[in-house]
Amino acid sequence: MENNLKSQEEVDQWEETMFLYDHALKKMALKAQMMNDEFVCRYHYNPIEHIKSRLKTADSIVRKLRQDGYEVTIQNMNEKLSDIAGVRIICSFTSDIYQLAEIIERQEDISVLYVKDYIKNPKPNGYKSYHMVVSVPIFLSDHRRDMKVEVQIRSVAMDFWASLEHKIAYKFEGDAPEALLRELRACADIVDILDDKMYSLHEALLAITEKRNSPANRP
Ligand code: GTP
Ligand code: MG
Repeated sequence: MENNLKSQEEVDQWEETMFLYDHALKKMALKAQMMNDEFVCRYHYNPIEHIKSRLKTADSIVRKLRQDGYEVTIQNMNEKLSDIAGVRIICSFTSDIYQLAEIIERQEDISVLYVKDYIKNPKPNGYKSYHMVVSVPIFLSDHRRDMKVEVQIRSVAMDFWASLEHKIAYKFEGDAPEALLRELRACADIVDILDDKMYSLHEALLAITEKRNSPANRP
């Protein structure tokens, strides 16, 4: 990216832009962490297994812009790309995913620009995840900037599937053998079954705990 910038002014602008994305990324990741901490504090329950965040590299920003047919400029990078800052939230259960998404929507200092629900509408390859592109305000010493952050929320099983699919897609550069793709789609169905069964077990465990703690069963 740096090589595509012509003047010192553009280089400074690039550095400031990446600083802003990094700031927005940290703000969003901290917000997610605090949502989890609140659940632990109030309900002794952690909806989030873990959080990963990453800033897109200069190389992949350039590659993506070119691939989508745009000139490599800072303006295009801000207008055309939504995933320069990306936060991935991994939950135990599908119900946690929707609950967190609702909490994110209710945050007064964040606006949701759009949502793609690949859990209700999985991709043809079997990919499942809940994507939100949000706008995070950054307050600098003399002005405010609103930066886009892509938030992906998925279960542990969905994440396991997505990372294997990503490895296969990368290895075969999008031209994987049909038999492998079929197996992957079959695994995506197993992910659904596993998520459902784990949720049922979790509900059963909650019901038993509640029953044991009810006044009628106390000594
Ligand atoms: P790009 O895919 O980045 O061009 O953006 P988009 O506008 O198509 O958004 P989409 O919601 O489809 O994808 C955004 C991100 O989700 C990607 O960068 C990946 O991290 C992830 N993703 C989307 N589809 C797949 C998939 O089929 N497999 C895997 N492993 N990840 C995916
Ligand atoms: Mg895509």
